[in-house]
Amino acid sequence: MYKIPANTLFLGKQLVFVPECHSTNTLGLQLGQNPSTVEGTTIITNKQTSGRGQRGNTWEAAPGMNLTVSIILKPGFLAVKDQFYLTIVSSLAIYDFLQGKTDLPIAIKWPNDILVQNKKICGILIENMIQGSTLATAVAGIGLNVNQMEFNVDSATSLKLLIQKETPIESVLHDVLGYLEKRYLQLRHQQYVQLKQEYLSKMYWRNELRTFASNEGTFQGAIREIDDNGKLIIETDDGLSFFSIKEIQFIE
Ligand code: BTN
Repeated sequence: MYKIPANTLFLGKQLVFVPECHSTNTLGLQLGQNPSTVEGTTIITNKQTSGRGQRGNTWEAAPGMNLTVSIILKPGFLAVKDQFYLTIVSSLAIYDFLQGKTDLPIAIKWPNDILVQNKKICGILIENMIQGSTLATAVAGIGLNVNQMEFNVDSATSLKLLIQKETPIESVLHDVLGYLEKRYLQLRHQQYVQLKQEYLSKMYWRNELRTFASNEGTFQGAIREIDDNGKLIIETDDGLSFFSIKEIQFIE
């Protein structure tokens, strides 16, 4: 159903197409446990019946209209403490892809939602399998809204809504894999500083005074940075506070 990409070295060279599945990430985690599964193995489906999102949420996507894909990586070179760099490279890859498609403003909403004109076009779910102090296998799951025109929520958008034309899912797949491979190779070449700097420069709400909600209620502050573990650092009148994904919500 989908052709093997010609524009990559190893991502997508093993391409598993399933017309329907619960979740490509769940399949990816199962395949990733098999030692004979090669790095770059990519699972793509037309329809997920239990697509999974961040924070235990579900991921809804109209069948056949969007990119729902999971890529198996073997980042044995990456220390567990640096696992947030997988979030950085996958977010930047989607940013790169969208930048090639539109001049509209794109931003990465920490940790890895991609927004265009303040609306979410892509969600990423990275699931890691850890062995000792390194990452044996990681599954990068990407849900990118491509040709869907209607959403249940006003905060979502798609490529077609932005550029007013259909894009074949296969070409989106090939482009995304190409960009992801480039960014992943940067990581393999240990370009940590450059990758983090680029991620920070594209971050939604960075250095703006905004309202957030934590377990202790709402507060105002400005996103400054991420720490070495990928925690969000927000500056308030009381100083710097550090948040993991379940501890903070963006309000307005
Ligand atoms: C989020 O924003 O909450 C992350 C959504 C990730 C969705 C993708 S779709 C392909 C892959 N398979 C899944 O079950 N989830 C990811």
